[in-house]
Amino acid sequence: MTHEIAVIPGDGIGQEVTPAAVEVLEALDIDFDFVEGDAGDAVKEATGDALPEETRELAADADATLFGAAGETAADVILPLRSIVGSFANVRPARAYPGVDAVKPETDIVFIRENTEGVYTGIESEITEGVTTLTRVVTEDASREIAEYGFDYARQNDFEDVTIAHKANVMRQTDGLFLETAEAVAAERDAEYDTALMDALAMHLIMNPDDYGVVICPNLAGDMLSDLAAGLVGGLGLLPSANVGPDNALFEPVHGSAPDIAGEGVANPSAMILSAAMLLDHFGYDEEGDRVRTAVEDVLENGPTTPDLGGDASTEDVTAAVIDHL
Ligand code: NAI
Ligand code: MG
Repeated sequence: MTHEIAVIPGDGIGQEVTPAAVEVLEALDIDFDFVEGDAGDAVKEATGDALPEETRELAADADATLFGAAGETAADVILPLRSIVGSFANVRPARAYPGVDAVKPETDIVFIRENTEGVYTGIESEITEGVTTLTRVVTEDASREIAEYGFDYARQNDFEDVTIAHKANVMRQTDGLFLETAEAVAAERDAEYDTALMDALAMHLIMNPDDYGVVICPNLAGDMLSDLAAGLVGGLGLLPSANVGPDNALFEPVHGSAPDIAGEGVANPSAMILSAAMLLDHFGYDEEGDRVRTAVEDVLENGPTTPDLGGDASTEDVTAAVIDHL
């Protein structure tokens, strides 16, 4: 069976790490058909549209999408793409790897981030000059969907600790509903869990990351806390993610276009290659997904590594080494 994969490299290091992930997938004995589309700052400059209609259709029609990164137009690209694939859950694993100089080597946390609402609805307005507003949307349906996904994910992946992040003491209506709904889901499953105020959680994640397994988060909290966890494990070059919907999905590194290193050929491709491993899991190629993860782990431990991890290897050197280790 052929799987059609939309490949959208985007801007900056997206152009460097996306081909690396495609090379790794091509090295496996799976029938993928890759179709490439444009998105991001460069295509906006050229056409006036950061996410052209052809690219939207490509992502809608494909069985899954691999996305690199966009630059300043990120919100105009990734938010619609996540919605085109119907993804309600953003899965962001933050794991420390042997051989990588991590602030907290014991970190092994998966953020399950609500991906459709919260403060990322884009409902903003300027009431009058100097006064702006943003509408934070939280629905019972989306809160239930993300909590069910989070508790099921924890069970399927043998995580003991589940934490529901919220700020219901201040955002009483919106996070009140999020928390209440997630707790109801836990009760239906007879699942154990903790709740945590998201600001205090930021501190606890740094002090005691081994107390945490799966963290179910509202949209913005999941975005911020997963970047925070990237700092615990050795940087953004290591964090993959999956945007999962009922019948489609998009896989992307957590990082952005990294203009400070773009064009130098030294971006760490691990986050993007690990995102491709999540794509393999998604299609049920569990063994191949594990092979890719193990290959990345071997290379992280034994080198070569890119400058963000203290090495002097290029993106291509690391990619070739991962393919060797497959
Ligand atoms: P960023 O993730 O691009 O970079 C943050 C820092 O991490 C930089 O120092 C960068 O060099 C480093 N870094 C990130 N990925 C790396 C990798 N694979 N290997 C080595 N080092 C890596 O975030 P920043 O600087 O906040 O944003 C840059 C641009 O990216 C902005 O225009 C922003 O809008 C966009 N962005 C796009 C996202 C997306 O497309 N999903 C997500 C986040 C930011
Ligand atoms: Mg982010």
